[in-house]
Amino acid sequence: MKNILLLSIFILTGFTVSAQETSQQQDRPDTLYYPAIAQEFSSTLQGILMAELKKGGTLGAVSVCSDTALKLTGEIGNKYGVKIKRISDKNRNAKNAPANEKEVMILQVLLEEHSLLSAEEKDEDAIKALNIKKEKIKTPGLFFTPMKTAGACIQCHGNEDQIAPATLQKINELYPHDKARGYKAGDFRGAIVIEKK
Ligand code: HEC
Repeated sequence: MKNILLLSIFILTGFTVSAQETSQQQDRPDTLYYPAIAQEFSSTLQGILMAELKKGGTLGAVSVCSDTALKLTGEIGNKYGVKIKRISDKNRNAKNAPANEKEVMILQVLLEEHSLLSAEEKDEDAIKALNIKKEKIKTPGLFFTPMKTAGACIQCHGNEDQIAPATLQKINELYPHDKARGYKAGDFRGAIVIEKK
């Protein structure tokens, strides 16, 4: 009898714990997975971009950073029930400009973080102050992460003399108000923002 009692207490407590876990997961379900979603988006996009660059050079790859990126934000977003955006203050397509005050702040904070962290001498006080600012922007269901340029990006986002003439011509035609050039490898390029739908 004692054993049965102990067993039922054990089972009951077991149940309570798992019910609690489930309700916590339902309150903040996927936010935990947002970093992985951002990772899936950027590595898929980079994979397609690199394959396309190999195949047809930069001219053929121009559409990857535009059409494919847009398609992917939609596809991966739908798969996980989130909204994915690429935003940049120095944008090529005005559609990728920060859409509101919060997105402007996200870009400011991430840019500041980038320069503080890449400085040779780390200013610990400034980093602490920045982290407080960063925490203030965070709201439930919102995730953001910085994007940096790699060497391969410079072929389309570097100085004009680093972009192949035909590619430059195409970019000029498609994006007469392009601000996304003059980058060096390792620069802060913008942010991936993920929000609950
Ligand atoms: C083959 C040319 C090309 C290469 C290489 C390229 N991009 Fe782009 N990128 C573009 C074009 C074109 C757009 C405009 C996309 C649009 O219309 O939404 C763009 C847009 C972007 C945007 C959206 C913000 C904006 O400026 O409109 C980001 C972020 C971006 N690129 C990052 C990168 C990164 C990081 C790399 C390297 C891994 C890279 N790009 C390599 C052509 C390229």
